[in-house]
Amino acid sequence: MSTFHDKVIYQAYPKSFKDTSSNGIGDLNGIKEKLPYLADLGIDMLWLNPFYKSPQNDNGYDVADYTSIDPIFGTWDDFDGLISEANSYGIDLMLDMVLNHTSTEHEWFQKALAGDKKYQDYYILRELQEDGSLPTNWESKFGGKAWSKFGDTDKYYLHLYDVTQADLNWRNPEVREELYKVVNFWLEKGVKGLRFDVINVIGKDEILEDAEDGVGKSHYTDTPIVHDYIQELNKETFGRYEDIVTVGEMSSTTVENGVKYSNPERNELSMIFSFHHLKVDYKDGEKWSIMPFDFIELKKILHEWQEGMVEGGGWNALFWNNHDQPRANSRFGDVENYPVETSTMLAQTIHLLRGTPYIYQGEEIGMTNPNYEDLDEYVDIETHNAYKKMREDGISHDEAMAIIKEKSRDNSRTPMQWDDSKNAGFSDAEPWLKVADNYKNINTENTDVSQAIRDYYKTLIRLRKDIPIIQEGSYDVLELEHPSIFAYVREYEGEKLLVLNHFYGEDDTITIPDELLNMDASYLIGNGSERKLEKEFKLGPYETAAFLLK
Ligand code: GLC
Repeated sequence: MSTFHDKVIYQAYPKSFKDTSSNGIGDLNGIKEKLPYLADLGIDMLWLNPFYKSPQNDNGYDVADYTSIDPIFGTWDDFDGLISEANSYGIDLMLDMVLNHTSTEHEWFQKALAGDKKYQDYYILRELQEDGSLPTNWESKFGGKAWSKFGDTDKYYLHLYDVTQADLNWRNPEVREELYKVVNFWLEKGVKGLRFDVINVIGKDEILEDAEDGVGKSHYTDTPIVHDYIQELNKETFGRYEDIVTVGEMSSTTVENGVKYSNPERNELSMIFSFHHLKVDYKDGEKWSIMPFDFIELKKILHEWQEGMVEGGGWNALFWNNHDQPRANSRFGDVENYPVETSTMLAQTIHLLRGTPYIYQGEEIGMTNPNYEDLDEYVDIETHNAYKKMREDGISHDEAMAIIKEKSRDNSRTPMQWDDSKNAGFSDAEPWLKVADNYKNINTENTDVSQAIRDYYKTLIRLRKDIPIIQEGSYDVLELEHPSIFAYVREYEGEKLLVLNHFYGEDDTITIPDELLNMDASYLIGNGSERKLEKEFKLGPYETAAFLLK
């Protein structure tokens, strides 16, 4: 059961990792070229975002052909070379399965548009309501309404994301069968990990109706049938193998459902991504707003998910960053004054928790938000939609830009900073998205800031492999209400691991309970000076420290 509990997964965003074909877009050969770098970090699995044929309206999450490679990323030979070379370094591949929707350029959608009834039933098509309003009042997650006109028919198709991402009809068994074929195709290629994109929204209600809140999430999120579909997916595909690691991306889910999705006894998934901890700087739940993050809320959410998953036998994916999130160090720390402390403290906070840590490219060298000044510098469709909406809502250009600077998904999609040469060593052509200005100081060859952070990550990865308590230990919190420190205790076979993480720039103190002080403590790892555990334990700016207690 615990075969994957010692693993660490690295996410590379192919478009921005390394370009070897001089088209300004990263490619599979670029990933292959950098395998020694990844092997040196010590990671076990490499998650790649979609590189299948796609019009790239949503950077590949609009898939036009599931079993193909988009020529911008390379060829089949490149893929075969990548997987076998990765394996020779002991690194397995995890691929992104985008099974909730296809691109409207997908053959299925095109056939449906041409009038083929079989393929029309692959999507979710409805007529207008009697009063002439859209089939339901649901909103698209990328702004606007979730329905668009289906060709020149009188029907509308559902798209929970962009208008070019049509939701598939999972109630149709033929659709499910086709999708299972896709998953099996990649498993047969030797892929050992699967990340299922927005998988908890595949089960729309049977009868689609207006939502009271005008948004609609409850009509398609975590519906009971999603669990049936995932069990079937498991049985028909990866469940036939012994060693496949799966993670479901869960939009707005609950701990209760998280347990169901990831408790091994239910034969669903190995683990899940949940996002509540990354909404603690949304003002009144609105992403496109600026608010200092709510630390107590952040801790409560991490705590609730740790505790709930221990109790229910579920498993969390642990992460701060991915291709949809602004950089966590820019968000929860001080990258100007304490770049090393910020990045190492954030890393330690999650790497020593119960679950599987994910590292998003560049966080291991302290990459930050790029702080673009110009709207044109952003490529992301969600960002452009949000800008339009904010302007319509009366927000000034300057304010909208300030918000985008903090919240855009492009913050994390900037090219990987390999060195201090032109384009940060990412490409010798103009990159598809501008490189962050700080690449001369933050890059994989920098021996100061970036190297210190990277060395720390390497140690954290190694510790997870060496110390069973990190893999299997229980979880308990200390002083949940402490205003600046997140402290927790893991326990396994009579030993404890105490982890103290300070999220602010001034010194602060936490009182260590006698029960822990009475044990034999040894300093395990920290980003400050090595010292003894004492009753009133003082932490410096963004300091983190962990002790093993016997
Ligand atoms: C997931 C992906 C995101 C994409 C969306 C729609 O949230 O991570 O990048 O835009 O799904 O596929």
